[in-house]
Amino acid sequence: MKANLNLDKETWHPSPLIGQIVLVTTLNADGTSNIAPKSWISMMAFEPPILALGCNVQHWTGRNILERGEFVVNVPGAELAETVWRACDLPHPVEAAGLTPVPSLKVRPPRVGECRAHLECVLDRHLTYGDELVVFGRIVAGSVDAVALGADDPYAYLRMFAFLEDSTYGVIEQARQVGKNDDRGGAMSAKPSPARRA
Ligand SMILES: Cc1cc2nc3c(=O)[nH]c(=O)nc-3n(C[C@H](O)[C@H](O)[C@H](O)COP(=O)(O)O)c2cc1C
Repeated sequence: MKANLNLDKETWHPSPLIGQIVLVTTLNADGTSNIAPKSWISMMAFEPPILALGCNVQHWTGRNILERGEFVVNVPGAELAETVWRACDLPHPVEAAGLTPVPSLKVRPPRVGECRAHLECVLDRHLTYGDELVVFGRIVAGSVDAVALGADDPYAYLRMFAFLEDSTYGVIEQARQVGKNDDRGGAMSAKPSPARRA
C-alpha cells in the first residue's frame, strides 16, 4: 500500500528528500557580509566543479550573488543547529549571528570560522522558477578543518546535518562503508581510498 503525497513540499511529512544545511555568505552592496541558512543545495558537475543552490529571489543571498557574483558555502556541524535557525530572524551580517568572519582564499565573502568546511564559489549561471532562483556556482577554492583529515571517521567530526521539514533536522553521526559484515554497512574505522562517486 502506498499513500499519495501532496505536491506541495511544505506539506510533506515525512519528507522523502533531504537537503544538507549550510550557511551561505555573500557580500552586501556596502561591503558588509550577509549570512543565511540554506538547504536546497547539491553538487551538479565534477569538471568544472559546479554546485547548485536554490534561493528565493527576494532574499539577500540571491540578490547579492546575482549582483556581485560570489558566495561561500559554509558547512556547520549539528551543534550549530540553534544558531542556524536563529540566523533567519536576525539582521544578517556574520557577526550578528554570533559567528566569526574569516577571510576566504579566493572570493570576497568571508568564511565562517565556526563552520567545519567551506566551498568558495563564483556565479556561473542562473535560472528562475517563479519566486525561486537556482544559482550554479563554480567552486574555486575549498577548505576543511585540518583535524578532520586525520580523524578515523571524519564524518563523525563534521556532524553534518540535513533539513527534513519545518524545524526538524537529521544528523550524520557516523559514516558506514559497504562491504562490511553488518547489513547496515560497517562503521568507518580506517581511512577509505578516495572515491569519486558514492
Ligand atoms: C535550515 C534552514 C534551511 C533553509 N533553506 C533555505 C533554502 O534552501 N532556500 C531559501 O531560499 N531559503 C532557505 N531558508 C530560509 C532562509 O534562510 C531565510 O528566509 C533567511 O532569512 C534568508 O536570508 P537572506 O535574505 O539573507 O538570504 C532556510 C532556513 C532554514 C532555517
